[in-house]
This record gives sequence, structure tokens and C-alpha cells, in this order.
Amino acid sequence: MTDLTALAAAALGEVAACGDLTALDEVRVRWLGKKGAFTEQLKALGRLSAAERPAAGERINEAKEKLHAAIAQRRSLLERAAIERELSAGRIDVTLPGRGEESGGLHPVTRARLRIETLFRRAGFEVASGPEIEDDYHNFTALNIPPDHPARAMHDTFYFPDGRLLRTHTSPVQVRALRERGAPLAIIAPGRVYRNDSDMTHSPMFHQLEGLVVGEDVSFANMKAALHGFLQAFFERDLAMRLRPSYFPFTEPSAEVDMSCVFCSGKGCRVCKFTGWLEISGCGMVHPNVLAASGVDPERFSGYAFGAGIDRLAMLRYGVNDLRLFFENDLRFLTQFRSLGT
Ligand code: DAH
Repeated sequence: MTDLTALAAAALGEVAACGDLTALDEVRVRWLGKKGAFTEQLKALGRLSAAERPAAGERINEAKEKLHAAIAQRRSLLERAAIERELSAGRIDVTLPGRGEESGGLHPVTRARLRIETLFRRAGFEVASGPEIEDDYHNFTALNIPPDHPARAMHDTFYFPDGRLLRTHTSPVQVRALRERGAPLAIIAPGRVYRNDSDMTHSPMFHQLEGLVVGEDVSFANMKAALHGFLQAFFERDLAMRLRPSYFPFTEPSAEVDMSCVFCSGKGCRVCKFTGWLEISGCGMVHPNVLAASGVDPERFSGYAFGAGIDRLAMLRYGVNDLRLFFENDLRFLTQFRSLGT
């Protein structure tokens, strides 16, 4: 017991001399661990008389507590010093110039859409839009596609449990725009559409361009001129256009729009499958049932409509041969469009 004061002083001296956390831990174990000097002291208590024991025990515990406190204090000091060291070693120089700073750019599909909007606005069209989550009525029924119509099977529709759906085309905007704005009207409606379809040339989400012109004497010839004018302006060249008879429930008569291939100028190449023609849009005169469902008198008004794929227009304009490139968002692809105009 006599050397307890000396022991305590030696221990405190060692703690004060510790330069890092590892050394401090060693000191702690050496003095306070299971085989530590203070534990030995406590064990030695058994050799004292019962009268001496309590006072001696108290002294040992006091010394132990002091040592514990000294270690804790030393530890927080060393920890703070370690943080300081780390901070000053890894100091950030905020005055250094930035690295790899790049400017963004518009996605090619966005560029194509903006270009389309500009051209149609110039021709007197307004830009309309509608919801991507549609109801059955606007996506099908109002477009003269009743519940059992076979054309429904052509659209691999994504349905929600409540019966609503992801619109399969932009044509429902025809009905909504007419209901909101009334006739006469000239609109385009670019937007996302969805079909349960995915391969080399189909993406479950893609972009369509809807067009609708309704007035007192809107004709098939008006439609042909508008479409031809748009295609020449969009591709910035003279190109031939032809209409082939087709069928859509919401137009009558209906046609498919072909334009001469922009890659071979109609001579025949792989892109046009050696036909010289590229199919670019569906179109037709708005069916009287659609006008009536949109609150427009079919006896007084007539109209034309068309629906084209924006992604396809973008592919043809920018020479992109795989639709998937537009949706993978690989920067090596996208940055190539950064400095282009629309
Ligand atoms: N809605 C048609 C589709 O997705 C495209 C279409 C064809 C739209 C003819 C029209 C049209 O407005 O007149 O396949």
C-alpha cells in the first residue's frame, strides 16, 4: 500500500506523455486492465486485516478514477489533434480552377420537338398538350374506337388497376383541344406515348406529334400541302411526298404519308429498304364521329389530322440508326448534339 501514491504518479505521468491514441490505449491496459497494476493492488487487499481493508480499498479506487479521468481527457485531446491534422493536410483550395467543367445541351429528341414547334407556330398552329395518364374514353371511345373495336388490339396498352391507362397515342389531345378551344382551330400536340412493346425499333415510351386543323372548309388538299411544307422545312430540302390509302378509326378517308428517302434521295438504300420511300406519318380527314364527340358540328366543320413519330423524325434528321440510343442517355452519344442548332 505504501507505494500507491508513487504508482498513481507514475501512471499519470505516462498518460501525459502519450503522443497518440494507440500508445494511450496501451497505457490504459497496462495500468487498469485485468493484469494491470491497480487490479493487482485490489487483489492484494485480501492480505490486509479487516480493519484496514475499507480505507485501503477506497484509496485504490480513488486513484483508479483519477487515472480514468486523465485518460479520457488525454484521449479527447489526442482525437481533436488528429482531426486538426487531417483537416490541414487535406485542405481544399477553393481558389483553384475547376476540373472537367462541361456545358450541358438539349437532348436530340427535344431539339427535334422544338424545331417542329417553331415551324408549325410559324404556319399559324398553336401548341397543345394533354395528360399522359388518360381515360379509356379520350384514348379510344371518343376517337371512334368503341370497346370491341379490333383497333384496340393494335395498341398494347398499359392499364392502371382503376381502368385508366397510359395514353397509347397523342390523338386524345384532338378531343381535349376541341372541347377546350372549340372550332376553328389549328394545333399540334407533341408528347410522350406508351405501348407495351420493346425491341430494336420500339421503345415502351416514345414521342408522337399530333396535328389537327378544323374549320369551315378544311380540305384533304390543305392537309397535303401542310404536311409537304412541314417535311421540306424540317429536313431543309426539296423532297417528294406521296399519300397511300390506309385505315384509322378516327379519320375517313385515311392515308399513310411517305416521303422520298433523305439518305438516298429516292434512289434506294438500306434505310428505305430499297424502296426510295420512308413512311413518316398517318393522316386523314377527321371522322364526323370524332368531331361530334368533341362538341363540334360535323355538318358545319371539317378537319384533317395527322400523327407522326418525333423520334423517327429526329433519327432521320440527325442520321441516328438505332432508336435505343435516344433513351440510353450515354453522354458520348448525347454530347455530339451539344453544339448543333435545332
Ligand atoms: N394515332 C395514330 C397512331 O398512334 C397515328 C395517327 C394516324 C394520328 C392518323 C392521326 C391520324 O391524327 O390522322 O398510330
